[in-house]
Amino acid sequence: VQEAYHGPGHIRLDKRGVIIMLNGGNLLLLLLLVAGASCGAPRTFSVDYQKDCFRKDGEPFRFISGSIHYTRIPRVYWKDRLLKMYMAGLNAIQTYIPWNYHEESRGQYSFSGERDLLHFLQLAQDVGLLVILRPGPYICAEWEMGGLPAWLLNKKNIVLRSSDKDYLSAVDEWMGKLLPMIKPFLYENGGPIITVQVENEYGSYFTCDYNYMRHLTQLFRSHLGEQVVLFTTDGGSVGFLKCGSIQGLYATVDFGPGSNVTAAFEAQRHAEPHGPLVNSEFYTGWLDHWGSRHSVVNTNAVIKCLNEMLLKGANVNMYMFIGGTNFGYWNGANEPYSPQPTSYDYDAPLTEAGDLTDKYFAIQNVIKMFRKIPEGPIPPTTPKFSYGTVTLQKLETVSEALEKLSYSGPVKSIYPLTFTDLNQALGYVLYRTILPFNCSTPTPLSSPLNGVHDRAYVSVDGVAAGILERFKSITMNVTGKAGSQVDVLVENMGRINYGRGINDYKGLVSNMTLGAKVLTDWTMYSLSIDQAVSQGLLGKSMSSNPPQPPKLSLPTFYGGSFVIPDGIPDLPQDSYIKLTKWTKGQIWINGFNLGRYWPARGPQLTLFVPSSILSTAVPNNITVLELEAAPCSDGPCTVEFTRTPIINATLPHSLKPTSRLFSKEDLL
Ligand SMILES: *[C@@H]1O[C@H](CO)[C@@H](O)[C@H](O)[C@H]1NC(C)=O
Ligand SMILES: *[C@@H]1O[C@H](CO)[C@@H](O)[C@H](O)[C@H]1NC(C)=O
Ligand SMILES: *[C@@H]1O[C@H](CO)[C@@H](O)[C@H](O)[C@H]1NC(C)=O
Ligand SMILES: *[C@@H]1O[C@H](CO)[C@@H](O)[C@H](O)[C@H]1NC(C)=O
Ligand SMILES: *[C@@H]1O[C@H](CO)[C@@H](O)[C@H](O)[C@H]1NC(C)=O
Ligand SMILES: *[C@@H]1O[C@H](CO)[C@@H](O)[C@H](O)[C@H]1NC(C)=O
Repeated sequence: VQEAYHGPGHIRLDKRGVIIMLNGGNLLLLLLLVAGASCGAPRTFSVDYQKDCFRKDGEPFRFISGSIHYTRIPRVYWKDRLLKMYMAGLNAIQTYIPWNYHEESRGQYSFSGERDLLHFLQLAQDVGLLVILRPGPYICAEWEMGGLPAWLLNKKNIVLRSSDKDYLSAVDEWMGKLLPMIKPFLYENGGPIITVQVENEYGSYFTCDYNYMRHLTQLFRSHLGEQVVLFTTDGGSVGFLKCGSIQGLYATVDFGPGSNVTAAFEAQRHAEPHGPLVNSEFYTGWLDHWGSRHSVVNTNAVIKCLNEMLLKGANVNMYMFIGGTNFGYWNGANEPYSPQPTSYDYDAPLTEAGDLTDKYFAIQNVIKMFRKIPEGPIPPTTPKFSYGTVTLQKLETVSEALEKLSYSGPVKSIYPLTFTDLNQALGYVLYRTILPFNCSTPTPLSSPLNGVHDRAYVSVDGVAAGILERFKSITMNVTGKAGSQVDVLVENMGRINYGRGINDYKGLVSNMTLGAKVLTDWTMYSLSIDQAVSQGLLGKSMSSNPPQPPKLSLPTFYGGSFVIPDGIPDLPQDSYIKLTKWTKGQIWINGFNLGRYWPARGPQLTLFVPSSILSTAVPNNITVLELEAAPCSDGPCTVEFTRTPIINATLPHSLKPTSRLFSKEDLL
C-alpha cells in the first residue's frame, strides 16, 4: 500500500479504472486506508494566506531552490548535479520544459534518453529535492524561440502567447500530452512537484491578453486538478505584474542582487496582499551574447541579497544554480538581434561542467544559517583531461556534399522560401541561384529589408565572396559573369527568445537584390547535416576548388580522430575543446553536436566536452564545419583539448557594450 501511495502506482490504479469503478463511499474508504497506512496524513502543499507562507503537510514551509535545466546537462550527469544542489542545502529545484525540444515536429513527441523528463523528476525526488516546474508553454530561458516550436510559424501572422485560435489549439494538444504525464509527480500524488508555473514573465510581453491567461489556467486545472499551487512569475515592479498576474494563479516576482528587495516584494504585495514572498528568479549570474563581455556577478552581492531575502522569510529560487550548455542549435537570441553563445555557464555557483566554485560554498554558508544542511561529502568536481592536439583533414565543402546533406532534395521557387516553408527548424539551408547579368565591376548584393536570418556565407562559382549578417551587414559586392552560380548558405543562429520579435522566421525572409534587380529562380536545399555527420557520410573532396580570396573560404567540413590512451585510470574524463584561430562554425564529436564555436567574435573560446560522448574502445571522431576560414590554407589544421575553459576572453573587437545587468527592460 505504501508503495502504491508514494509512487506513481496509485495513479496507475486510477488509470486502470479500479478507483473509478468504486462508488464514492468506497473510494473515500480506500483513500483513508491508503493514507492511514503510510504517514497518517495526506500529502498536501498549499498557500497559507493567513500566515503568509507555504504549507507542506500542514506545516509552514519555505523553499530555498536552484534552477537547473535538464536540457542543458548530459543525462549521465543529472544525478551528480542534483546531489551537489542538495548538498548546498537546497530543498527544491526549479526547471523549465522546452516545448520545442519535446515536440520538434507537430504530433511527434520525444521523451526518452536525454529528453527523459520523467526520469529527471524521479532523480530529483530520489535525491531528496522538491520540484518547482515551469512547463510554459513559453519559457524564455535563452532557449531557441523561448521554447515555442518553430512550426507554429506555419501560420503567417500567428499571434504567439495570445488567444489566437491556432496557437491555442497547439497549446491544448501539447499540454494534453505533457500535463497528464507529470500529474503523477505532483506532491499530492506522491511525487516531488510542489508548484507549477503558468506561462513566463507574461507581463513583459506586449499582448496582455487576459483571456489567454484564463485559458491556460483552466487548461492546467483541468489536467492537474484543483489542489496544486499554480503560479506566475514577473519582473519585480508593478508595471510587469499588471499584465502578468491574474486571479487564480499565485503571483511571484523575479529580481537580482543590487535590486531593492523591499521594493520588489512590495510589488509582489501589490498583486498578492497576503501569502508567501517569492523570488522565482534570483540571478546568481547573468547571460552572455556573442561579441559582448562575459557576465560576472560578484559573489558578495549575491550572498548579501540572498541573506536579506531569507531574513524576510522569503522563498527564493536561484537562477541559475547550474547553467550548463546550449548543445546543438538550442541557444536563443535577444533584440536587436544578438544570439547567445554555446556555454550557458551563467557565472552560476556550479560551472557549466558542474564544478564547485567559491560562489557555491559562499551560498551554502548563507543557507546554513537558515536551515540544517545535509551532512556528508559533496560530490567532487569531475577531473578534466587533455587529449592533446588533434590534426584534422580537409573534407568536402557543403556545396560538394549537397547530395548527402539534402535528403529531401531541392525545392524551387521564384522568390526565396523561409526555413518554415521548407519544413526545417534549425541549422542551415543552402539557397542557390545565378547572376542574371554580367557583374564585371563590383555590384552590390543586398538584403535591403534586413532579411538574412541570420548569417549568410556567399560564394560565386565556387569562390567565397563574403558574408551577410542580420543587423550588422546587409550589403556586399560580387563580381562574375551572367549565369554564374551563387550559393548562399544561411545559418539560423538561434531564434529570438524574448520580446516582440519571437515570430522569428529564418533563412532568406525577404528578397535579395543584385544592383537594382530582385534575384529570382531560387533552388533551396534543406540540410540534414547532423544525420550526415553521425552516419559518417562526409568524405574527402574529389574535386579541386578554384583559388579562394585571402582570409575567406567556402563552408567546408574537416575531420579527424583521436584515441584515448590506455593505462590511465578513470578515462574518459570531461574536457574542453579549443579552436584557436578557427573562425566560426559547428563541431561534433562522435556525431554529438557540441554546439557553435566563434572565437573570432568571443567571448567563448572553448566548448565543454562531456566524457559521456567519448569512447575508450574505438577512435573518437571529430567533425568541424568551418563556415568562414580554417587556420590551415596550406598546413594541417588542429584542434586542441584543454583542462581549463575559456569563456571570458577579451574581445577581438569592440561591439556595442552589453546591456546593464538584471534589467529585463533593457532586453525589450
Ligand atoms: C527601497 O525601497 C523602499 C520601498 O520602496 C524605500 O523605502 C527605500 O528607500 C529603498 N531603499 C533604497 C536604498 O533605495
Ligand atoms: C556578358 O559578358 C560576356 C563577355 O564577357 C558577353 O559575351 C555576354 O554577352 C555578356 N552577357 C550579358 C547578358 O550581357
Ligand atoms: C562595393 O564596391 C563599390 C565600388 O567599388 C565600393 O564603393 C563599395 O564601398 C563596396 N561596398 C562594399 C559593401 O564593399
Ligand atoms: C519578393 O518580391 C516580389 C516581387 O516584387 C514580391 O511579390 C514578393 O512578395 C517579395 N517577397 C518577399 C518575401 O518580400
Ligand atoms: C569513428 O569512425 C570510425 C570509422 O568510421 C568508426 O569505426 C568508429 O566506430 C567511430 N567512433 C565512434 C566512437 O563512433
Ligand atoms: C577569465 O576567468 C579566469 C578564471 O576566473 C580569470 O583567471 C581570468 O583573469 C579571466 N580573464 C578575463 C580576461 O577576464
